[in-house]
Amino acid sequence: MIAIIGGSGLDHWSRLDGFAPTTLTTPFGDPAAPLLCGDIDGVAVCFLPRHGADHTLPPHRINYRANLWACKTVGARAIVAVATVGAISAHIGPGTLVLPDQIIDYTSGREASFFDGTDQTVQHVEFTEPYDAVVRKALHDAAVASGVDLRDGGTYAATQGPRLETRAEIDRLERDGCHIVGMTGMPEAALARELALPYACLALVANRAAGRGSSSLLAEIEQHLASGIACAQSLLLEALPQLAGRV
Ligand code: HPA
Repeated sequence: MIAIIGGSGLDHWSRLDGFAPTTLTTPFGDPAAPLLCGDIDGVAVCFLPRHGADHTLPPHRINYRANLWACKTVGARAIVAVATVGAISAHIGPGTLVLPDQIIDYTSGREASFFDGTDQTVQHVEFTEPYDAVVRKALHDAAVASGVDLRDGGTYAATQGPRLETRAEIDRLERDGCHIVGMTGMPEAALARELALPYACLALVANRAAGRGSSSLLAEIEQHLASGIACAQSLLLEALPQLAGRV
């Protein structure tokens, strides 16, 4: 089964209408919503909107541990996380889909590990390459096959939110080598790694980041979200069979 975690603009996917909702809880609390599990073109899929079915959970309040644990519980073998981001680099325009290959975590105060109990020995996971190569390749191949423009590679800056960044913060992220910025990439990616779930992020650029040209970031996000998500959805439909055969 392939799990798709939907972000802003993808709380609901009409392709999944009629899928049975699976309500479950986890040792870490409840996931953002019941998971929708079903079949898309012969591929077992489960879908979880990370902000909740009605988009009520801000990035810093999402129970990332419950979300990831729930995906594992229903039988996910890999995760594609769809995320809306802002572009830091001048050469990445709104509407672009990006397949990041690195992350820098600027978040704070989030429950960021399953290994924080006192009843187990200290455990570490490797995170040199935060995104899974096989899942990334399947998404990349699907983009090529379907003629969807997908930028391969880039560093995702995970910020705390829910506010957008200042111009100086974005300047700093650029100096750090970040190309795109979003609020939900961490600890989600690290938690997937702790559960040994192959995970990649399909990032949709909805706006130029703060101080990078937009007079209203929110208006720009609004303008590009729907068309970008439609593009991400067609890429996902192409990628699912590829993924299912590889993970
Ligand atoms: N910053 C952080 N998160 C975002 C942005 C942004 O500019 N756009 C969409 N999500």
